[in-house]
Amino acid sequence: MCGIVGCVLKNEKVAPILFDSITKLEYRGYDSIGLATACEGKINLKKDAGKIAEVDSKLNLRDLEGNYGIAHVRWATHGDPSKTNSHPHLNKDETIAIVHNGIIENYLSIKDKLESEGYEFVSDTDTEVIAHLIDKYMKTGLDLTQSVRQVINVIEGAYALAAMTVSEPNRIVATRKDSPLIVGVGEEEFFVASDSPAILKYTKNIAYLEKGEIVVLDEEGVSFLDADDEPIEKEIEVNDWSPDMAEKEGYPHFMIKEINEQSAAVKNTLSERDKVKSIVDEIKGDIDKVLFVACGTSYHASMTGKYLIESLAGIQTEVLLASEFKYSASSLDERTLVIFISQSGETADTLKALDVANETSRTLAIVNVRGSSATRRADYTIYTQAGPEIGVAATKTYISQLVAIYLFASLLGEKDEILKDLEKVPAYIEDVLKKQDEIKRFAYKFKKLDKVPKYLKPILGKPNAYKGLDKNFRHVEDMFFIGRGYSYSIALEGALKLKEISYIHAEAYAGGELKHGPIALIDSNIPVVVIAPPGEDHKKIMSNLEEVKARGADIIGIGAIGDEDLVLKSDYTFLINSEVNDVLAPLVYIVPLQLLSYYVSVARNLDPDKPRNLAKCVTVE
Ligand code: G6P
Repeated sequence: MCGIVGCVLKNEKVAPILFDSITKLEYRGYDSIGLATACEGKINLKKDAGKIAEVDSKLNLRDLEGNYGIAHVRWATHGDPSKTNSHPHLNKDETIAIVHNGIIENYLSIKDKLESEGYEFVSDTDTEVIAHLIDKYMKTGLDLTQSVRQVINVIEGAYALAAMTVSEPNRIVATRKDSPLIVGVGEEEFFVASDSPAILKYTKNIAYLEKGEIVVLDEEGVSFLDADDEPIEKEIEVNDWSPDMAEKEGYPHFMIKEINEQSAAVKNTLSERDKVKSIVDEIKGDIDKVLFVACGTSYHASMTGKYLIESLAGIQTEVLLASEFKYSASSLDERTLVIFISQSGETADTLKALDVANETSRTLAIVNVRGSSATRRADYTIYTQAGPEIGVAATKTYISQLVAIYLFASLLGEKDEILKDLEKVPAYIEDVLKKQDEIKRFAYKFKKLDKVPKYLKPILGKPNAYKGLDKNFRHVEDMFFIGRGYSYSIALEGALKLKEISYIHAEAYAGGELKHGPIALIDSNIPVVVIAPPGEDHKKIMSNLEEVKARGADIIGIGAIGDEDLVLKSDYTFLINSEVNDVLAPLVYIVPLQLLSYYVSVARNLDPDKPRNLAKCVTVE
C-alpha cells in the first residue's frame, strides 16, 4: 500500500538507482509514480499518474540531477490517481519534498489550521500537510530532523515518511509509525525503503526502524534517534534473500515465476521443522484453544489450519478475519494461543489484532518477511521460507504458510505419518507444474473476443446463449468453486485467485450449502469448479457435482488420476497423483487453480502481477 524509497549516494547520480529501487516496490501500489532529487539549491521533480513503465516512457524518470532523492509508488487513499495527487509533495517554495505511506487521520484539522495561517493546498491528499508542516517548523529555525520530530508530535494515524530539503544537501530524514520502513546501510549508498526487495541489489545490511524512531541518512552513513530524541545504535541485520529472487528471471510475470517456485518453497519451509518443534514443546500443555487471525489468502490458509489442528491435535480452533477480530476478542484467555498468519507481517488489521491479543494470550506469527512488524510483536515467530513474493496475488507464500501450519499441527498432535507425507509434497507439486500446458490450453478458451462474430450478436446476453455453440468459456463472467472440508478452503482460495486477477466474479461454497441458496443462480453460463480429491467426502462432492450439472453448469473437475467418474461427468478435468488424499489436498490441489487464474488473466490480456485496485501489503485498516 504505497511504496517509498529514499537514497543518498556519495558522488553518483541518484535517480537511476531510485528508479530501479522503486520499480521493485511496484507491487505496493501502481496508480502513480514520482521521484524527487535535489542539486544546486533546487528540487527536481517528475511524477504522474499511471504505471511505472507508462510514466517513465513519457517523462524519462531516470533523468534527474542530484545525489540524494526520494521516490514513491502510490495506491490512492485520499484523492484520485492524478499528477497533482502523486508523491513527492512539495512546499510552496519548492524547497522541501516528502513521500508518505499510510493515512494521516487528523489531516483535515491540520489542513484547516495551516490554511488559516496562509498555507495553500494543491492536492486532495492527506499527505500534503506534512510538506507544509515541515515548511512551517523550518521557518521557525528548526532543522529538517527537528521539524520531522515536530511533525510526529502533530500527525495521527499510520505512516512511514521520508523528507528532504535543498537547505540541507545530501540528507534524508525518515520516520515511521504502523507502516513499514527499513534502513539499508551500504558502503557508499544509504537507503530507506518500505521493503527489502527495493534495496537488496545494493545492500543486504538492514536495520529496522521502530515506531517513533528517526533515521538520518547522509553521505557519511546513517544515524538514529529514539522516540525520546536520544541518539541510539541499532543492530544491522544481514538479509539472506538474494537480489535475483526479486527478478523475473525470464518469466513473463512474477506470478507465474512464483507459482513455479512452490515446490522449492515447500522444501525450504519444511526445513523449519526443528524451530516449529521447539515452539510446540514450549506451549504444549498450556493451551486448550487456538484462534487463527488473518486477512485474504492468509485467512484461507488459516481455514485449513482450523481443520488440521482440530483433527490432528484435537484442540478446539477458531478462525477470525483480522478486521473482525475486535468484535470477538473478549473470548480470549491465557490458555488460548492466537496464531497470526501474514505473508508481509505488516497488514494493519492483523497488527491491530495482534496488539489486543498480546494483552491476554500467547501469540504466534507465521510470516514471510524477516524483521516485519508482526515478528517483533508476537511471542513466537515461524518464518515461511518462500523468498520474496512480488506478484500481488499470493501463491508461494500461501503454500509456505500451509506447510508451516501442517508442521505445527502434526507436531502438536504427534502425527508422524503426516510429517512423512509432507516430504512427498514437493514432488506432487512438481508433477502438477509439469502439466501446466494443459491448463494453459484450457484457459485460452476464456479469452475474450476482440470482435464478437456476427452470428453471436443476436443472442448475446440471453441466458444459455452459448451452450452448444462451442465449448468456449469466453462469455464467462461468473464462476463457482465447490469443495467440502479441507477442499472447501481450497475452493475459497481458488475463487479468490480468479476474481483477483481475471475479474471474473468467482464465489466458493461448501458443497453442502449449494442447495441452501446459491444453486438458484446456476445455469449454463456459470461453470463450476469441483474439487474432488480421494477421501471420505468424495461421494458427497460428486452428488453436489450432479446437482449443478443437472442445472446446465459446465464442470471443471479437479481430482485424482484414475477418477473415471469425475472425468466422465466433467467438461474439463485436471488430474493429480492419487496418493494426495483430502488431508494433503490443500497443498497440491490449489496449484492447478492458481495456474488457471494466471492463464485466464493472461488470455484476457490483463496484468496478473498488478490487478486493479489491489495492493500486496495493506497497511491501512
Ligand atoms: C492483500 C494481498 C493479499 C493478502 C492479504 C493479506 O489483500 O493482496 O494477497 O493475502 O493482503 O496479507 P498478509 O500480508 O497479511 O498475508
